[in-house]
This record gives sequence, C-alpha cells and structure tokens, in this order.
Amino acid sequence: MEQSLAGKKILLGISGGIAAYKCADLTRRLIERGAQVQVVMTPAAKEFITPLTMQAVSGRPVSDSLLDPAAEASMGHIELAKWADLILLAPATADLIARMRAGMGNDLLTTLILASNAPIAVAPAMNQQMYANIATQENLAALAQRGMMIWGPAAGQQACGDVGYGRMLEPMELVGHCEGFFGPKPLQNIKLAITAGPTREAIDPVRYISNHSSGKMGFAIAEAAANMGATVTLISGPVSLATPNDVHRIDVESAEQMHQIAMEHAVNNDIFISCAAVADYRPSNVAEQKIKKNADNEHMQIEMVKNPDIVASVAALTKQRPFTVGFAAETQDVEQYARDKLKKKNLDLICANDVSVAGLGFNSNDNALHLYWNTGEKALATASKAQLAKQLLNIIASDLFRKK
Ligand code: C5P
Repeated sequence: MEQSLAGKKILLGISGGIAAYKCADLTRRLIERGAQVQVVMTPAAKEFITPLTMQAVSGRPVSDSLLDPAAEASMGHIELAKWADLILLAPATADLIARMRAGMGNDLLTTLILASNAPIAVAPAMNQQMYANIATQENLAALAQRGMMIWGPAAGQQACGDVGYGRMLEPMELVGHCEGFFGPKPLQNIKLAITAGPTREAIDPVRYISNHSSGKMGFAIAEAAANMGATVTLISGPVSLATPNDVHRIDVESAEQMHQIAMEHAVNNDIFISCAAVADYRPSNVAEQKIKKNADNEHMQIEMVKNPDIVASVAALTKQRPFTVGFAAETQDVEQYARDKLKKKNLDLICANDVSVAGLGFNSNDNALHLYWNTGEKALATASKAQLAKQLLNIIASDLFRKK
C-alpha cells in the first residue's frame, strides 16, 4: 500500500448521523496509508457507532468529553487542537455545521474546531431536505467562505428512503480528498480550463439533441487539477454533478455557447482540456414554437449544420495558445482515429477511450485511457476516473515543464 498519508495527523470528528457507521472503514483506510487518526465523537455520534469500535480501528482512545479529567491529563483539548494537520468532520450533520457556523463550543468537538488553526474539511451527511434547506446551505456557504473545504455530499439513495443530495462521500472518496489535500502540487501557478459534459442542441423550445456524457471524467480532472494546485475553470454542459472545491464553474448549454466561453478563456490559461462530448451538428433552424405532429406524415427531417470544433479552434490559436488536450471516445479502431484527430486538430495530446467496452466510459465511474502525443504514447489501465485524472495531469505537468 502506497504510504500517501505517511505521518499525517488527522483528527476525525464524528457527529451523530447514520453515515457514522462508515467511519470505522474510513479510519482503517487512512491508517493503511500511513496517517495517524485521532477520533473525537459528539455524544450523538456514540448512538451510531461505539467509541470502542473507533478505538480498536484507530489504535487510540477516543476523545469525547470536554470535562473528563483523565482525558485532559493525557492529551488536553488544546493540545489535541494543536496536534492535527487536518480536521476531518465526517459525517458532519446539519446540527454540527450550524454550531460551527455560529462559533459554538458546547462539546469537545466544536471546542477543538474553535481552538485549532488546522485546515478543516467538512463531509456533510444528512437527509436531502435538510441539506437543501436554506439554513444549511447558508451555513455551508459561510464555512466555505471561511476557507473550510466542503467534501461532498453525494447524491443517491438515503438511509431514510429519500433520494437526493445528502449522502456522505464514500470512505475511499474521502481518502482521495485527503491524499489530494496533502499531496504534491505539481500544477501550482498553472491555470487550466476544461470543458465537460454533453451539449444540448435545440430543435424547438422544448426539444433538443444531446448525448449520454455524464461529465464525470471532466469533473474528476477539474477536481484533481485543483488538488494539484491549479487555478481551474470548468466549462460544463448540462450535468447533475456538484462543483468540485476551488473550481470556478461556468454552465453552458449549446456547442456554440461552449465555443464562445472556451475561446474567451483559452487565451488566459496554460492548459486547455476538451473533455466535453460536443455535438458535432446542430439543427440549422430552431423552431420558434413547439413542432407539431403531422398526421399525414410518417417521417420528419431535421436539417443539421456543423458546430464549430472547439478544441481545434483553441489549438489553432497563434498567440497565447495553451497546451491543448483532446479526448476521443471511439467504438472501433481507437488508435487510428485518435492519432488522426491528434494530427488534424493540431493537439498536444489526445486521450482515447473505447466506449464500446461495457462498464467503461460514458456514465461509468471507471475508465481506461490510451494517451497519444507526437513523440509517444502511454496506456492508463482501468481505474476510477479520479485516479485516471491524477495520472493524466501528472503526465501533462511533466510534459509542460519539459517544454518550459
Ligand atoms: O467529436 P470528436 O471525436 O472529433 O471529438 C474529439 C475531441 O474534440 C474531444 O476532445 C471533443 O471535446 C472535441 N470537440 C470539440 N468541439 C466539437 C467536437 C469535438 O471541442 N465540435
């Protein structure tokens, strides 16, 4: 196991939500990677997972009381606050988030948060309605404003049966965030713009042509780049993904809008990555009113016109041209098509993936990429999109610096 968190001191603050049961696994995964984990629990957290379990997996007695003379005698709360390299609050309930926003110190955990100048990461976990509540949203925005990192939440099935945003990120996703936080910053002082997701090409006011792109690969790259120190602009088509921390996101709908925003930003960035599944064609005319079914006609035709090729336009810049990276999603002859695109579009690098392989590519959490550039190639084996994003950016970073 790579010791990616060697020697890092993580204070894991657990508050009282059902996701607390995942904290045993989270602690093990952090420790496996070399971290030291000190668990602090709120009284409510102990209703969901026992301090004994957390002591067993962390190898340290759990701190849970502000007024415990024995605990204060070993590592007092102020010492504990100074010990941490990172305070990770997982799960962070709506109540904990509200108390933090108010600056309260009415239990050990909130007192430590007040008394520490360590960086703080908040992993919200709550019912989707509680998460959507304006009070929670304002509280989280205030914490983010104070420089705290907000990791998640994810969307999906909830313990209460609801579906929506509010699930705590999975332990390995939180580990990934910790690794990103502590990891090297090879893209410090680098500006990166990336397009992601599908585009929507209007047919009439209610219909459009689009594709199955989920945006996950592009969002994973944006997040990894921000973790590696880059200043990131994410130009996104319509997707249902949360904006990664420290990423400036611009939402667009059509290829023409994406083209306009991309061209505005390309010249101010060192790297431009075109991960979006841009529609090649759009309807020539957008009907002003909803198109009606015609009872006598079994067929209808929509005339299409070519969209601008965004990545090719960026690569064709003669001044302030960024290092330009494209993607090629192919279902056959992957290498041939990818190499053709590399050349035709004048790219510095192309990332090809075979979207015909079941479980990979569009909408999946995993992918496999084959990178081609003029003087080399590299296969990146099947892995999570987050891991691939890191590998890809490391390769881009080393290439970029070689050229500088
Ligand atoms: O569609 P195609 O296979 O040519 O896409 C290859 C690359 O070109 C991708 O990086 C995609 O984001 C980009 N592209 C673009 N604008 C288009 C079509 C594709 O930037 N209109």
